[in-house]
Amino acid sequence: MGRVEGKVAIVTGAAKGLGEADARLLAREGATVILTDVDEVNGRRVTADIGGPSRFVRQDVRDEDGWRALIEEVMAREGRLDVLVNNAGVVEAGHVENTTMDNWRFVMAVSADGTFLGCKHAIPAMRTSGGGSIINMASVASLGGHHTVFSYVAAKGAVEALTRAVAVHCTQTKTPVRCNSIHPAGMDTPMVRGMGKKMADAGMAPPRPADAPPPLTALGSAEDIAYAVLYLASDESRFVNGQKLVVDNTLTVTPAVVPA
Ligand SMILES: NC(=O)c1ccc[n+]([C@@H]2O[C@H](COP(=O)([O-])OP(=O)(O)OC[C@H]3O[C@@H](n4cnc5c(N)ncnc54)[C@H](O)[C@@H]3O)[C@@H](O)[C@H]2O)c1
Repeated sequence: MGRVEGKVAIVTGAAKGLGEADARLLAREGATVILTDVDEVNGRRVTADIGGPSRFVRQDVRDEDGWRALIEEVMAREGRLDVLVNNAGVVEAGHVENTTMDNWRFVMAVSADGTFLGCKHAIPAMRTSGGGSIINMASVASLGGHHTVFSYVAAKGAVEALTRAVAVHCTQTKTPVRCNSIHPAGMDTPMVRGMGKKMADAGMAPPRPADAPPPLTALGSAEDIAYAVLYLASDESRFVNGQKLVVDNTLTVTPAVVPA
């Protein structure tokens, strides 16, 4: 028996990076996974590699009609929805003074709007299914002042806060749906590997040579987050609700070194 045997899970942004690792592990542990992404080529490639009953659906998480259609289709085809991983997200460089409205709206739309819409439309389907678990991908960025990715910090702050409100709504309405956020530090994914160039393009960091190591000295792997997702998706975490799970190998708890 897998740890999520028989469950039906949607993972957004599953074509690469953390979402791909989540989808692979959930499927390996017995779930039927609906992988969604705007990147159809990689999404279909990963889904074919996973095999079994899992399938790919093209989805832009910013689009509410798309969410309605996706959930309706899952309920019609798979007959239930147990897990939603609101993983899709984007990052742009910029501090508070040079962040444009386009940068702000883009990042907020994918992370904050996308996560809100996923929660909104998954809850009724999970209620019909007898319960479920929503896992929202936040970041250590919502826990500190990462000033060079200003819109990202704000978007992840929104994800963190709305997670608590969703969880409390569900307990108050006696809906057996849990909602938790995961806060990764730097994990080795295309997003993190692309950050150096984004910073350089925004004039906020020196250009990095193509063969330079990843921008953070100690990156975790996508699987480190997938195992946290697996725990929250499984019934092992049935009393964990409205919480932040920080996966950062001490990044946010290491005391600052004060020069003597
Ligand atoms: N990698 C890290 O170190 C890290 C740290 C903290 C938080 N996160 C968060 O984890 C999530 C995944 O990050 P990642 O590093 O794997 O990113 P990534 O860029 O490597 O992959 C993100 C995926 O989301 C998809 N996507 C982007 N916009 C979308 C949209 N509008 N609709 C549907 N899909 C869309 C992309 O096509 C891509 O496949 C993000 O929410 C990110 O903010 C990542």
